[in-house]
Amino acid sequence: MISSELLESIDPESREKAKAVLRVRFRHTNHDHPLVAQLVRFAYSELLERLAASLDDGKLDPALQIPQQPVETSAPHIPQSLSIDALLSQRINLVALPQLVVQLQEAINSPKASADDIAKIISNDVKLTASLLRLVNSPLYGLATRIETVSRAVAIIGLRPLASLAMGATLLSGFNRQMHNEAMEQFWLHSIACATIAKRLAEQTNRQEPERYFVDGLLHDIGRLFILGGFPENAEAVYNYASAMGMSLHEAENALIGFSHVDIGGRILEKWNLSEATTAAVRLHHTPEAQPESPFDDQHIIHLADAIAKALGYHARGDFYVPKVSNFSWTKLGLGLNRMDDIIANLNLEIETVAHIMLYASL
Ligand SMILES: [Fe+2]
Ligand SMILES: [Fe+2]
Repeated sequence: MISSELLESIDPESREKAKAVLRVRFRHTNHDHPLVAQLVRFAYSELLERLAASLDDGKLDPALQIPQQPVETSAPHIPQSLSIDALLSQRINLVALPQLVVQLQEAINSPKASADDIAKIISNDVKLTASLLRLVNSPLYGLATRIETVSRAVAIIGLRPLASLAMGATLLSGFNRQMHNEAMEQFWLHSIACATIAKRLAEQTNRQEPERYFVDGLLHDIGRLFILGGFPENAEAVYNYASAMGMSLHEAENALIGFSHVDIGGRILEKWNLSEATTAAVRLHHTPEAQPESPFDDQHIIHLADAIAKALGYHARGDFYVPKVSNFSWTKLGLGLNRMDDIIANLNLEIETVAHIMLYASL
């Protein structure tokens, strides 16, 4: 949190500016929820720190630009032919799962696969090995000793967690190579933030496989890539409409194209044969209360991680607003509010490090 000395050094006009950014960022959320109140406090402190830094180096931090104020606008024309099936058939190259991921999945699911088998699959890919080792040596794990080999990583982190991580890294690098622009970078930064936060929430509540939630977070908005890749002009029109109307992207997609990124994302994950738990996270992260009898808790953790990521300013294009936090999900998480301070305080560094490894160091 920002020190009172630093706070005093920031002029009232700049403080008002930070508040204006936050008023828009948090305009759709439930301010009476204790987690939201804590996120607002943290986000304010964080913005002021950024502001102090940008005053020092003379550059205006993009996080401090006040977003467009919502204005009523008419709905753009979207062709009727837009359907999930049309999108899936148009994006054949994206629908194919990388061979490496298929091999990893088979190995994880095979009772006969050994740690050596998994280590061999990973080690065959030099770039994947390098980025995995950077990840396990990053603050994401906070290990005391350096891990230099994949087999050592398997021994320390575990077979399934490492395979999950490898799967996430491979998927991300595959997509990242295909499309490269600012919107895509923002998209992956949001996904990586959500993944890192989800893993941390899972660890702090002693869940069995924190890496599973990391993969959930990486993939939770994957449906957006198909809409963006298949119909870029329409995707842009939906983003603009959502911002102008002050709607969540999920609502705007449903209103304009009749389905949203969670529908198409769920279909893709089924096609890829990914776990039901991850599919639940993708399908239900905006409506975590829709299936209260669900045996999984992935949708709850990803719903909260998505909200926290946006609260901290890690939002993708066209999806700016912190959503309403589901109290059902918050209760399912089972984390005391008093422990959130410590978790949030370290998130930025963790997210930036993981993003650096996964996005900017060439995979
Ligand atoms: Fe989403
Ligand atoms: Fe999201």
